[in-house]
Amino acid sequence: MSQSFYITTPIYYVNDVPHIGHSYTTLACDVLARYKRARGFEVFFLTGTDEHGQKVEKAALTQGETPLQLADRVMMRFQNLWEKLGITNDDFIRTSQERHKQGVQALFKLLLDKGDIYLGEYEDWYCTPCETFWTETQLINGCCPDCGRPTEKLKEESYFFRMSRYQEPLLRHIEAHPEFIQPTSRRNEILSFIKEGLRDLSISRTSFSWGIPVPGNEKHVIYVWFDALSNYITALGYPHDPQGLYGKFWPVDVHVIGKDILRFHSIYWPTFLLAAGIPLPKKVFAHGWWTVEGKKMSKSLRNVVEPNMLIDKYGVDAIRYFLLREVPFGLDGDFSHTGLVHRINSDLANDLGNLVSRSSAMVNKYFGGTLPAPAADGDGDETFRRAFAEAVPRIDQHLNDLSFNKALQTLWELVSKANKYIDETQPWTLAKQEEQRERLATVLYNLMESIRLIALLAAPFLPDTGRRMLTIIGQNPEDVTLQGKDGWGGLRPGITIEKAAPLFPRIEEEAIPAK
Ligand code: MSP
Repeated sequence: MSQSFYITTPIYYVNDVPHIGHSYTTLACDVLARYKRARGFEVFFLTGTDEHGQKVEKAALTQGETPLQLADRVMMRFQNLWEKLGITNDDFIRTSQERHKQGVQALFKLLLDKGDIYLGEYEDWYCTPCETFWTETQLINGCCPDCGRPTEKLKEESYFFRMSRYQEPLLRHIEAHPEFIQPTSRRNEILSFIKEGLRDLSISRTSFSWGIPVPGNEKHVIYVWFDALSNYITALGYPHDPQGLYGKFWPVDVHVIGKDILRFHSIYWPTFLLAAGIPLPKKVFAHGWWTVEGKKMSKSLRNVVEPNMLIDKYGVDAIRYFLLREVPFGLDGDFSHTGLVHRINSDLANDLGNLVSRSSAMVNKYFGGTLPAPAADGDGDETFRRAFAEAVPRIDQHLNDLSFNKALQTLWELVSKANKYIDETQPWTLAKQEEQRERLATVLYNLMESIRLIALLAAPFLPDTGRRMLTIIGQNPEDVTLQGKDGWGGLRPGITIEKAAPLFPRIEEEAIPAK
C-alpha cells in the first residue's frame, strides 16, 4: 500500500482578489503535491475559500449582493487562477458548503458537551478587518497591533473555548516535536507567546449573521477562525466516515501558511484538536511575505501584483520558477520585474534552454536524430553521473524540508554541470574525427540522459517545461514518475530525439515595465 501525504493551503478570504501572495502559498503546496505523487505517495492536496464573517457580510452589502453571491463570484476568481497556474488540488472546500457546516457544528458540539466550550460574556477591543479581539495592553495607541487600524470596544454574550486548559499540553507537544512548527525562529516566537499564558478564547459572535450557527443557540454564529480552521478535517469528511479520507489522511503532513496566520494554526487549531482528542498536524510551516519593489502590497498603493497579468506576460512556468527560486521559503522576499526577467533570462533561457537546444541539435546533426548507444566511459563521465546520483537524495531532503530554493539551486547545479560537460567534451571537435565516433555517441547519450533526469526533477516546479523536455527526448510527457526512474540509464538507444525549439525566449530589458 502506498504511503499517504496530506497537504493544505490556507483557505482564502473572498473579500480580496487573488494576488501573488496567495499564489505563492498555493504554488508551494502544488510543487510538493506533484513531487510526492511522482514519488509514489497517495496525495491529498486541499485548498479552498474562507467565506464567512463580518467583513464578507459588509462587503456584500455595499455591493448590493448577498454574501453567498459575493462568495460565488470571488471563489471563481481563485479557481480560475489556480487552473491557469497549473494547480493540481484534489479538492476545493468552501466554508459555505453543507459538508463543512455539519463538520464544524459536530466539532463545536463535541467540545460543548465536554465542557471545553461554555457560555459567558465578552468585553474587549475588536479589530473588524482582522476579526480579532485584543486586550487593552495589546493595543498600540488604541489601534490594532497587527494592522494599525482603529479598534472598537465590544461587549457581548459569547461562547468561550477553554484554551487555558490546553496551554501545558500544547507546550509539551511543541517541546517534544521540534519539527511541528517551522521555521525554528517562528517556533521560538510561538513558544514565548504561549508561555505568557493562554486566555480562554471567545468563539461565537452575535453581532452579525453570516456564519455557521452555534448548534442549539442560533442567535450565535461560530467565530470565523474556529469555522475556517476546521476545513482541514471537514474536507476529509469529519465526523462521518472515519475509515474514508479522514482515516487515510489525518493527521495532515503539513499545513503551509503565511507567517501572519501562524498563531491561529499553531495555538488555536492544535488546542481545539487536543480538546477534541484528535491527533495534531505533523507540521505547520510559515512562509514569509512578498513586498513589491520594496513596498507592502496594498490596494491603496495600487501595487498589487496581479498573477494573471504576469502569467500572460512571462508564462506560467517562469512565474512558478521565480517565486520559489528567488527567496528561501521561510523568509520575506521582494518582487520586482527586473529580478524576474533576470532569472528568466539567466536560469531558464540561458542555462536550461541552451542545454536542451544545443544537445538535441547535436543528436540531430551527428546522428540524424536517433539516440546512439553509449560505449565505454571516457574522461569525466563517471563524475558527471555521480553528480546526478548525489543530487537526487539532496533534492528529496530539501523538498521534505520545504526548502524549495535549495532544491532548485541543487537542480540547477546539474544543469550547469551538463553545460560544462558539453564545453569540456567538445562534441563538435569529436564529430570531425571518425575514430571518435563512439566517444561522440557516449557523450550525446549522457547529455540526453541528463536531460531526462533534469526534466523529471524539474517537472513539479515547471510542469509544462518538464512535458516539453520529455517530448523532445522521445518520452511520454505525462509520465513524470520518479520512483524507480531516478537512476542513470533510463533512455533506450534508437529512440528519436527532436530538434528542440527554444524552451524560453529571452526577454529584452526594454520589455521590463517601469516601476
Ligand atoms: N482566511 C484566512 C486563512 C484561514 S486558514 C484556516 C486568511 N486568508 S488570506 O486570504 O488573507 O490569506 C491567505 C494566505 O495568503 C496566507 O497564508 C497569507 O500569508 C498569504 N498572503 C497574503 N498576502 C501575502 C503576501 N504579500 N506575501 C505572501 N503571502 C501572503 O488569512
